[in-house]
Amino acid sequence: MRLLVTGGAGFIGANFVHTAVHDHPGDSVTVLDALTYAGSRESLDPVAQAVTLVVGDVADADLVDSLVAESDAVVHFAAETHVDNSLADPHPFLRTNVIGTFTVLEAVRRHGVRLHHVSTDEVYGDLELGSAQRFTEATPYNPSSPYSSTKAASDMLVRAWVRSFGVNATISNCSNNFGPYQHVEKFIPRQITNILTGRRPKLYGAGANVRDWIHVEDHNSAVRRILESGEPGRTYLIGADCERSNLSVLQEILTLMGRDADDFDQVTDRAGHDLRYAIDPSTLRSELGWKPRHPDFRDALRATIDWYEANEDWWGPLKDSVEDDYRKRGQ
Ligand SMILES: NC(=O)c1ccc[n+]([C@@H]2O[C@H](COP(=O)([O-])OP(=O)(O)OC[C@H]3O[C@@H](n4cnc5c(N)ncnc54)[C@H](O)[C@@H]3O)[C@@H](O)[C@H]2O)c1
Repeated sequence: MRLLVTGGAGFIGANFVHTAVHDHPGDSVTVLDALTYAGSRESLDPVAQAVTLVVGDVADADLVDSLVAESDAVVHFAAETHVDNSLADPHPFLRTNVIGTFTVLEAVRRHGVRLHHVSTDEVYGDLELGSAQRFTEATPYNPSSPYSSTKAASDMLVRAWVRSFGVNATISNCSNNFGPYQHVEKFIPRQITNILTGRRPKLYGAGANVRDWIHVEDHNSAVRRILESGEPGRTYLIGADCERSNLSVLQEILTLMGRDADDFDQVTDRAGHDLRYAIDPSTLRSELGWKPRHPDFRDALRATIDWYEANEDWWGPLKDSVEDDYRKRGQ
């Protein structure tokens, strides 16, 4: 398969490309990535010989058209992804997440190419703390942040292009990912690298907000399964049944890294902070036979800590400026 992976130099995209190269040697992989602050050429170093990296904008219609014309399938990861940044400046989120997805859709429509659109459970808004409710494919969209509203808009575009133009596309909405190559602005790597650099971890508010964690390899194995066996036009929810409060994740990191469980600072909470996300992944499991390979959160977290300990060359140059930005926002 000739695969075009947008955003393939970011966290999830780079992990997807690594697996494509290792597990599917018959694939030819082209990455389209603008190498924003969130993308990194180094994330593709281990597979650089096997991958073509095109540095460019997913909203560049001519470029996207020429790349799609040479592809059998597009996996669309490219996005602006950090909620806090979307609160500070929503504009790039509109351009990349909405116009970028529109640009990809027009190209796959013209060339009759298969598309998988990667999205988030944040499009559904949040759930009550302590309730038994979980998101399903039928949950109405109710996004809270500029980030999640632009992802919701991109999902709607995909649905409309399927219905109106017969585009062969699937969508997945996944819960919070963790694992190697995640930018240090994000919750888990931020805490790990704070400890590794002698800073105290930072917790938004009381840390009661609940996220449903999944290892990035499990997200990507589900994306691959949907790409190969998903039904055109369908949306699939991806999750690994791993709800944890932010406080408990932080305390688990502290304990695994040999610190006291209360050795952190509480900082200003995020505006509009979603309370709880929880995915019901039963459709994916029953219809496509998918299951996670990293069901033990503590083991996967330990392996992630080991990765950050061993790869300071990758994240070290990013760390100071990220913490400067957080400090300016009181976080
Ligand atoms: N991280 C999560 O927990 C999570 C969960 C569910 C869904 N998702 C979705 O998965 C996808 C990837 O997320 P991630 O965490 O890897 O994000 P990331 O921020 O680590 O990577 C995004 C990548 O997109 C690239 N990019 C940004 N703007 C671009 C543009 N205009 N043109 C081309 N490339 C551009 C960046 O350079 C970067 O390499 C996103 O669509 C996100 O919404 C993420």
